Parts: sequence; C-alpha cells; structure tokens
Amino acid sequence: MGTIKVTDHQGREHTLAAAEGWRLMEIIRDHGLEIEAVCGGACACATCHVIVDSRWAEKLHPARADERDMLDDLDSATENSRLSCQVIWNRALDGLGLRLADSR
Ligand code: FES
Repeated sequence: MGTIKVTDHQGREHTLAAAEGWRLMEIIRDHGLEIEAVCGGACACATCHVIVDSRWAEKLHPARADERDMLDDLDSATENSRLSCQVIWNRALDGLGLRLADSR
C-alpha cells in the first residue's frame, strides 16, 4: 500500500490510499472523487484525463499509441497529460501527484 495525491477540479488536495495493481483511475473513482471514466478503462473516452506533476511524469511508462491518440484529441492536454486508466500503480509511484483535468 501507498498513497497518491490528487488535486480535484475545485483545487482541493486529497491523499488517497493506493494498492499495487490498481489503475490510477480506479483508485480515484473508488475514493469517490469526480472522475467519469465512462468507458471503464478501455482507452476509448478520455474522461479519465489527468495531469501528472512534472517530477512524476518521467517516472511513468510512456503512453502507448492508442493513449497518445486519445490525448491528441483533447484541447486541454498538456505534455504531462495521461489517461489515468492506462497507468497501473506500483510501489515506485508512492506519493505520485496529479490533478484531475478536463476531458475536452
Ligand atoms: S476510462 Fe475511458 S479512456 Fe480511461
């Protein structure tokens, strides 16, 4: 177990318990934060868009082509954008910070 730090759409920071093997989207959703994740993690909706703190972004595995394609379609995407359903938490990501982002 470990934690992630999530800033919500209102700017509030939440420290959430994270377990190995869980997708970031699942951790955020299961703690009741506002994330739609309409497609349930199939990399088909981008409503799980998050922006990862820059010091953590480079520690994540690179986005696959299908994730990159979805992010490319978002006006709100930044260089540290990820689809949170495509990142699986592990101990190396203990303390990871991100903020919930627009899905447009
Ligand atoms: S939940 Fe749909 S792309 Fe992540």
